[in-house]
Amino acid sequence: MTQQRRDDGSLRHLLTLQDLSRDELEAILERAQHYVRRRGELAPRSDVLAGLTVANLFTEPSTRTRVSFELAAKRLGADVVNLEVQLSSRVKGESMLDTVFTLESLHVDVFVIRDAEAGVPALVARHVGPAVSVLSAGEAHVSHPTQGLLDALTILQHKGRCEPLAVAIVGDIRHSRVARSTCQALQTLGVGELRLVAPPALMPAADEVAGCVRHDSLEAGIRDADVVMMLRIQRERFADADVPAGDAYFARYGLTAGRLALAHPKAIVMHPQPMNRGVEIDSAVADGPQSVIRDQVANGVAVRMAVLETLAAVPAQRRS
Ligand code: NCD
Repeated sequence: MTQQRRDDGSLRHLLTLQDLSRDELEAILERAQHYVRRRGELAPRSDVLAGLTVANLFTEPSTRTRVSFELAAKRLGADVVNLEVQLSSRVKGESMLDTVFTLESLHVDVFVIRDAEAGVPALVARHVGPAVSVLSAGEAHVSHPTQGLLDALTILQHKGRCEPLAVAIVGDIRHSRVARSTCQALQTLGVGELRLVAPPALMPAADEVAGCVRHDSLEAGIRDADVVMMLRIQRERFADADVPAGDAYFARYGLTAGRLALAHPKAIVMHPQPMNRGVEIDSAVADGPQSVIRDQVANGVAVRMAVLETLAAVPAQRRS
């Protein structure tokens, strides 16, 4: 049994997508699809988390992930508290645990945690009471499970099935928790071909993201691809790697309309954001007809509703 499951095998925490089966992923995505807002309708709501309290603890900047977790919890009827914990005086997660214990005394039932240090969501999961769930909202470069799920949902909405698809992930893959979690989700869902496209300094070690075809040429990497996912260079996670800056990076790895024409004519363009326009992606592509970047954002709420419901909406007898 892994650390994120209860004794009966059900998911209690979501720290990684690594050990989720295809059935489990598909069940969450199906539930998320139920929570996607239909055009002209109000956002779906439910009261499955009524009486529960969700705390968002973020020690790294976040716009979409934090807001969508808050909206997701509120739309399921939970009370929500948001804490932007300052990193400065933190010693290896210690003060994070103190904050967690304080919030547990205030009857928080679900912790949503984003942290720059690997291992913090698991550390918290080890220390909270048995009825409490912990959800990773981004752990260092290691994992970002709800982003992996929302990327998979967006791809399935536009393409129907994963099996026939060639998906190219382009940019700073070495430092990207998004790339790791999205690759795990797509591999479990049976994706046809996964390509990693990056300059050598931004490519992860072979055993870290396995089962992918690697390219250092953007043109070769996106040729005939059905999905092109662009990533930001995460300079906050490294000091002096040999990475071209700004214009020089754009000249080799920036996604322009001309380069996108190498991909399948119906290829979709994705980006987890924040985007650096003119560095990894041209505005004409980011805002163009093949872009599904805004769908990714909208799907973030639906996926987080589905995950919160899956983990936390358990019968009262199991919570005690
Ligand atoms: C990403 C993250 O924080 O990992 N953003 C997100 O959650 N959508 C990607 C990034 O910061 O570049």
